[in-house]
Amino acid sequence: MSTPLKVVAVNGSAHRPSRTLVLVQALLAELSQRLVLDTQVVDLSEIARPLGGALTRQELPADIEVQLAAIESADLLIAAAPVYRGSFPGHFKHLFDLVGMDALASKPVLLAATGGSDRHALVLEHQLRPLFSFLQALTLPIGVYTSTGDFDGHEIGNGALAERIKLAAERAAPLFPGAARPLRRVA
Ligand SMILES: Cc1cc2nc3c(=O)[nH]c(=O)nc-3n(C[C@H](O)[C@H](O)[C@H](O)COP(=O)(O)O)c2cc1C
Repeated sequence: MSTPLKVVAVNGSAHRPSRTLVLVQALLAELSQRLVLDTQVVDLSEIARPLGGALTRQELPADIEVQLAAIESADLLIAAAPVYRGSFPGHFKHLFDLVGMDALASKPVLLAATGGSDRHALVLEHQLRPLFSFLQALTLPIGVYTSTGDFDGHEIGNGALAERIKLAAERAAPLFPGAARPLRRVA
């Protein structure tokens, strides 16, 4: 019997529609092919304004405090952000500034980002990974970067991106054997 894996995915885009959110949903869909999941999406498009008005955790509205607590208690965190000026957006950083200093220690984190251009693909390695390393999280080796050209409007537009998403899920799934989806019997 599998125990559902509590996955919390942060979409760091404050805009709708959001390619970053589409990427998050595709990653969750691929993971759910392999693992039994209990998922929650923390979406900056819903909370960026009240989040930005809170300078300390005590000032957070109760519903955002609940979402921060979910991030802290996740079995797996997906941290996805659009690229802004070569890095993650300020409101994405602000969210993680309010997360407890040691709360992400040893937590597996799957990194993902979307940008306007392929030139910023290393944002995963040079911006997101150092932030989560500082927080002592265990960033997974395979993250997913996408640029606007990989999308058809706001839909995943090419097979290469779908393959990258699949690879990230394939590499992540064996880390959580307790949540493995039972194999279906054929015939
Ligand atoms: C303020 C701002 C700054 C941006 N800076 C960059 C950048 O430095 N490099 C890049 O590749 N794309 C940049 N972009 C493009 C976004 O990263 C890209 O459109 C992303 O897919 C948006 O994600 P979303 O649809 O989830 O909001 C920027 C967009 C905005 C609004």
